[in-house]
Amino acid sequence: MPPSTFKPRRFSHFDRLKYYIGLAAFGILTYLYFAPGPVLRVLNHQSISPNHRDAASNSTLGFQQILVLSMRPSWRTRGLLAAAGYTGLQVSIPKQATPTDELIDAFRKLGPENVKHPLRGEAFNWLAHLDMIKYINAQDYDTALILEDDVDWDINIKSQMALISDAVREFTYANADDDGPYGRKWDILWLGHCGEPTRLDTRRIEFSDPTVPPLKNYTGWASKYHDGLSDGKRVVQRAVNPVCSFGFAVTRRGAQKILKWAGKGENEAYDIRLMQGCKEKRLSCVVVNPEVMHHYVPPREFGHISNVAEGNGRASEAEEEEFERVMGNTANIANSTRCRALFDSTCMRN
Ligand SMILES: *[C@@H]1O[C@H](CO)[C@@H](O)[C@H](O)[C@H]1NC(C)=O
Ligand SMILES: *[C@@H]1O[C@H](CO)[C@@H](O)[C@H](O)[C@H]1NC(C)=O
Ligand SMILES: *[C@@H]1O[C@H](CO)[C@@H](O)[C@H](O)[C@H]1NC(C)=O
Repeated sequence: MPPSTFKPRRFSHFDRLKYYIGLAAFGILTYLYFAPGPVLRVLNHQSISPNHRDAASNSTLGFQQILVLSMRPSWRTRGLLAAAGYTGLQVSIPKQATPTDELIDAFRKLGPENVKHPLRGEAFNWLAHLDMIKYINAQDYDTALILEDDVDWDINIKSQMALISDAVREFTYANADDDGPYGRKWDILWLGHCGEPTRLDTRRIEFSDPTVPPLKNYTGWASKYHDGLSDGKRVVQRAVNPVCSFGFAVTRRGAQKILKWAGKGENEAYDIRLMQGCKEKRLSCVVVNPEVMHHYVPPREFGHISNVAEGNGRASEAEEEEFERVMGNTANIANSTRCRALFDSTCMRN
């Protein structure tokens, strides 16, 4: 082509425009890709000291104590102690006092007429939980994990908690000099619950955990709440709807706040009262989703009745001796420690 017919300037404005548009698009995409998203952030393990992770996998899972809420020895506590032995956890079961009928009745009536009030079994359970929090407060524990006595967890609980400690520290912007494996900038750390919504717009720290069951295998509320979850991942986020109190930790400050908030009744159950506190931001609640603890349920043919239902007078004393020898199931836990310890098996509900 002769140079005279070459008209380089003819399209130069258009070309330059395309160039700038391309450059801008590239810049925006690069920014979007690398910028720390305000909502979903992926855990940056590098920024965290391995000491916290090690402490979170110690025999009390990085809390000062693991305390079990239990009214009496039963299949629940026997299974729990077997599971604790299997995963090398140190748990203590403080002696619970039985509240009087008069106290239960009075507690049920607390608050104005137009709020919800607990039924008898729920009030009984609520008072037991409050006694536990008072005990934690009296002992002046830095942190404590409270377990209900039918709770279950995965045989990999220690490695799960190590990941969770990183994520909780990052989510709550724990100070570098805070030596708590989970920091201390929370009142309640909810580990075992019935399902917590993670939506696409939920602010959260996400991390890979190879022990998470496939999302399609979740049952109960947990199966409906996972728009913002992906397979093989867990998240740490703020709790807005954490029901069921299978396993949750409190800080010293959290115990004091719970005594004030939940000490006055005014809802249908203890866990619902805590959930209300989380929702209304009276309590600072951090939740792990999906849950790492869930309750074990004995085989259905034995007509299992929960402690709360027993308290409501709906109990039939099942033949514990018999059903303890037959495997039940645990929802949403891939490799149940109870079933591994007692039956050398997995028992995830499907
Ligand atoms: C586990 O770690 C926590 C936090 O550092 C600590 O308070 C607790 O005492 C440790 N547990 C044991 C059994 O040493
Ligand atoms: C999940 O469910 C499928 C059947 O839908 C089953 O084959 C699989 O074993 C389940 N996984 C776990 C971890 O239970
Ligand atoms: C459960 O744990 C056992 C023993 O470690 C292992 O062989 C098995 O693959 C695990 N199963 C699941 C579903 O994780």
